[in-house]
Amino acid sequence: MRLFGIAGLAVLFGFVPSNHANAKEQRNSNICTVKAQGNQKDDVPNILEAFHQCGHGGTIVFPEDQSYWIGTRLNPVVNDVLIEWRGKWTFSDDLSYWRNHSYPVAFQNHAAGFVLTGHNISINGYGTGGIDGNGNIWYTAEKGDTQPGRPMPFVFWNVSDVSVENFYVKDPQLWSVNIMNGTNMRFNNIYCNATAVDAPYGQNWVQNTDGFDTMDAKNIQLTNFVYQGGDDCIAIKPRSYNIDIHNVTCRGGNGIAIGSLGQYQEDSGVANIRIDKVKVIRYNEDMHNSAYIKTWVGALMPQTSYESAGLPRGGGWGSIRNVIFSNFDIQGANAGPSITQDNGNNGSYSGTSLMSISNVAFVNFTGSIETTSKVASVSCSKVHPCYNIDFDNVVLYGKNASTPGIGSCKYTDVGGVHGLSGSMSETVQQAFSGRDRPLISYGIPFPEAASRHLRESFQASRVYVICSQTLARKTDVIERLSNALGSTLVGQRVGMKSHTLWSEVLQITEETRALEADAILTVGAGSLTDGAKIIALALANGIKTADELKTLAEGPDKRDNITAPQIPIISVPTSLSAGEFSDFAGGTEDSSKRKHSFQPPTRGPQLVIFDQELVKSTPNSIWLSTGVRAIDHCVESLCAIKGTTEASNTLATHALSLLVSGLLRCKKSREDRDAHLQCQLGSIDAMAACTSGSIELGASHGIGHQLGPLGVGHGETSCILLPAVCKFNAKYEANCEQQESVRLSLIGEPIVSELLHTRSASVDTSDLGDVLDVIIRELGMPRSLTDVHVGRDKLDELAANSLHDRWCKTNPIPLEKHSQVLEILEMVV
Ligand SMILES: *[C@@H]1O[C@H](CO)[C@@H](O)[C@H](O)[C@H]1NC(C)=O
Ligand SMILES: *[C@@H]1O[C@H](CO)[C@@H](O)[C@H](O)[C@H]1NC(C)=O
Ligand SMILES: *[C@@H]1O[C@H](CO)[C@@H](O)[C@H](O)[C@H]1NC(C)=O
Ligand SMILES: *[C@@H]1O[C@H](CO)[C@@H](O)[C@H](O)[C@H]1NC(C)=O
Ligand SMILES: *[C@@H]1O[C@H](CO)[C@@H](O)[C@H](O)[C@H]1NC(C)=O
Ligand SMILES: *[C@@H]1O[C@H](CO)[C@@H](O)[C@H](O)[C@H]1NC(C)=O
Ligand SMILES: *[C@@H]1O[C@H](CO)[C@@H](O)[C@H](O)[C@H]1NC(C)=O
Ligand SMILES: *[C@@H]1O[C@H](CO)[C@@H](O)[C@H](O)[C@H]1NC(C)=O
Ligand SMILES: *[C@@H]1O[C@H](CO)[C@@H](O)[C@H](O)[C@H]1NC(C)=O
Ligand SMILES: *[C@@H]1O[C@H](CO)[C@@H](O)[C@H](O)[C@H]1NC(C)=O
Repeated sequence: MRLFGIAGLAVLFGFVPSNHANAKEQRNSNICTVKAQGNQKDDVPNILEAFHQCGHGGTIVFPEDQSYWIGTRLNPVVNDVLIEWRGKWTFSDDLSYWRNHSYPVAFQNHAAGFVLTGHNISINGYGTGGIDGNGNIWYTAEKGDTQPGRPMPFVFWNVSDVSVENFYVKDPQLWSVNIMNGTNMRFNNIYCNATAVDAPYGQNWVQNTDGFDTMDAKNIQLTNFVYQGGDDCIAIKPRSYNIDIHNVTCRGGNGIAIGSLGQYQEDSGVANIRIDKVKVIRYNEDMHNSAYIKTWVGALMPQTSYESAGLPRGGGWGSIRNVIFSNFDIQGANAGPSITQDNGNNGSYSGTSLMSISNVAFVNFTGSIETTSKVASVSCSKVHPCYNIDFDNVVLYGKNASTPGIGSCKYTDVGGVHGLSGSMSETVQQAFSGRDRPLISYGIPFPEAASRHLRESFQASRVYVICSQTLARKTDVIERLSNALGSTLVGQRVGMKSHTLWSEVLQITEETRALEADAILTVGAGSLTDGAKIIALALANGIKTADELKTLAEGPDKRDNITAPQIPIISVPTSLSAGEFSDFAGGTEDSSKRKHSFQPPTRGPQLVIFDQELVKSTPNSIWLSTGVRAIDHCVESLCAIKGTTEASNTLATHALSLLVSGLLRCKKSREDRDAHLQCQLGSIDAMAACTSGSIELGASHGIGHQLGPLGVGHGETSCILLPAVCKFNAKYEANCEQQESVRLSLIGEPIVSELLHTRSASVDTSDLGDVLDVIIRELGMPRSLTDVHVGRDKLDELAANSLHDRWCKTNPIPLEKHSQVLEILEMVV
């Protein structure tokens, strides 16, 4: 723990909110006992009368055998009052009354039914008294889609010196107990339970039924609190100071939040918060977070939910300081402790939050969470990188894991996070949503990332490294790896010939078998990764000869009892070809020179590490051209006329935007780390888009395959062919709508519209082919067959071969005739 001590914090809570002993003596002088009328007659007039008569220096009694009907809103203002609340209040079921008449709450467009105001108020429910919000009427009417006007049943507004104990709130319509503005308040033995009796199993119809919330609150103590529901168990909201919470059970919902901070353009700071001894229990397939701090991004973001009243939100400021979450027992939450400052982000505002976070400790977290990869995460703000964030004895197990999970961080101050295993400032995430593997890691140097994950994620202790020749010769990659891996590095291979020759694959298989390697790490070109995939497969199947290897490849000799690879591969790619993200591999049989394909159970890397420092040294000719290949994946996916889905279009559009601006920025500066990362992330989505569903790609891929054997790199084929194929398809009006929408998203990128401008190309008259041409030229990539030394004499052969290619047949204008292919090739001779 740094900078603040727990003992120091406790001193803040030495206040005494109300005076019980004295209250007893004065009871007889001024007591109002309220009788319920029964039969769902509105009891509020009588209740208000009692608050009026005895609400100033007296006692109000709701006897245990009485059940009151709350048919109208109420906001009594009282002082020096004791409320013996043994009976039950039940809110009426008149939805349209409440929607029309609840008090508006000036935060998130909410509303309230009962608001208590005043000074020196003592409420005791004696274990029998409380409020029934009659919430099931609301839960069933709205089925999880909250509408405006649901009243909170118990709101404190402008109160001071308050004590509430032995009290319950059952089925609240909205947030159960809510301090909107209060000082010196003590709550003890409070029970809140929102349970939607009609909801199907696993569905959350009790959103917005927070347990205990504070805002504009100072000196608040809560002890012995039990919550069941579908939202924040406890939420500490803007301008909450000196909050001490101890002994809490949260069943279902979002756990303990310090949140909704920065949602409005105002000071949203909070400070001096202790939350101690919390049990977090999964219920109804629902238990999201366990302990989290959440702030909005630093700019106004358009919003659609009713909570924002349709207005843009975000941009608030302030600091979050001195927070300790301690002694959490977590039973099956989706996530461990987390900090995120990107609430409300539409994708363009990561890390912009204006709020600063410091001196936060997560101490003694035990138990299990549902995820398999990440147990804790810290994502702060580039504007105010967070610091003094401590994880002390946070030991959480992912689902079925035998060792504790790791965490991730970004936008933190250098050295700003301590004790989070797996941190520094590494980000670890799934490459594809919905799939556990592969994981990607970025943010820390690859030797450290590799070493950490081999040890923590894979429990590997005998690693074999395959590294490309150029990297090994020109950089200190091998030395850095051997420093980081120490004795766990058992063998290495520098360089493999191109096309992944079986003879080399078999040699390395033999060597790794002899060394008993339990993981393979590749650094460099995609062909090395292909090699590693085949080696891992060969090892698992005891392969020693080329004939045996052939029984694993596609073809007539393939056997049907192939064992899946047993050892993990970790890859550190240096291009954007993204072959690391596929479970296919190609290898060339030496004798026949034939390329064979290996399909699942062949398996790609379990972890891919992106190191922006390392890829700086990849030559432009490879980095940028493989990037254009990824652009080709996106464009031909988006322009396909069969097999696209909304999901593939979203992925491709997103990837295209990342790649185009990322590549143009890389071209300007190979020092721009963010641009390199942007391209790497884009290459994954490009791959995901074009391999999702059954997308029928086009002739840029199809003819490109035939150029390969003439010695033209995959990336270069795309540079040359993609604009021409777009022009060809446009000319025959095959996919005009698709092309126009891709064109619009490209010229919508400021960097592209600027480029068109400087090249004096008209934004209005440039078609998709023209825009792509300008981009590829700007990248300095080849634009014609002459550029790659393929002469006119090769066109006939190219055309003939192309007609057999699958993607030529699925081109939006299917290529069935020699002359059609030649028409495209003529554009690029
Ligand atoms: C608070 O109210 C009680 C009555 O409930 C009264 O006896 C007591 O004197 C008040 N405390 C102060 C400090 O005024
Ligand atoms: C408001 O009250 C009127 C009259 O009772 C009703 O028709 C209307 O639906 C109510 N509005 C809402 C939002 O419930
Ligand atoms: C808050 O309550 C105090 C007395 O407890 C009163 O003097 C003050 O006017 C109230 N403020 C508002 C905004 O209602
Ligand atoms: C209500 O909130 C305002 C703004 O934070 C604060 O100045 C005031 O003291 C609060 N009132 C009470 C009773 O806590
Ligand atoms: C909440 O209420 C439901 C329904 O009555 C009940 O099954 C559940 O046990 C209660 N939860 C807690 C924590 O008491
Ligand atoms: C914690 O709170 C629960 C629920 O109020 C209570 O039953 C339990 O006795 C409390 N534990 C301690 C140690 O006070
Ligand atoms: C996010 O919103 C801003 C401002 O409204 C807009 O300029 C930007 O394009 C949006 N980003 C995305 C990814 O939608
Ligand atoms: C964390 O747990 C240890 C061992 O049980 C205990 O000594 C320490 O006081 C706990 N820390 C906090 C902040 O509660
Ligand atoms: C975890 O273990 C349980 C029980 O052994 C098993 O049913 C479940 O499939 C496992 N889950 C995962 C993600 O491995
Ligand atoms: C797999 O099948 C082949 C015949 O197709 C057989 O020769 C070989 O022994 C089998 N291997 C295993 C591990 O079962």
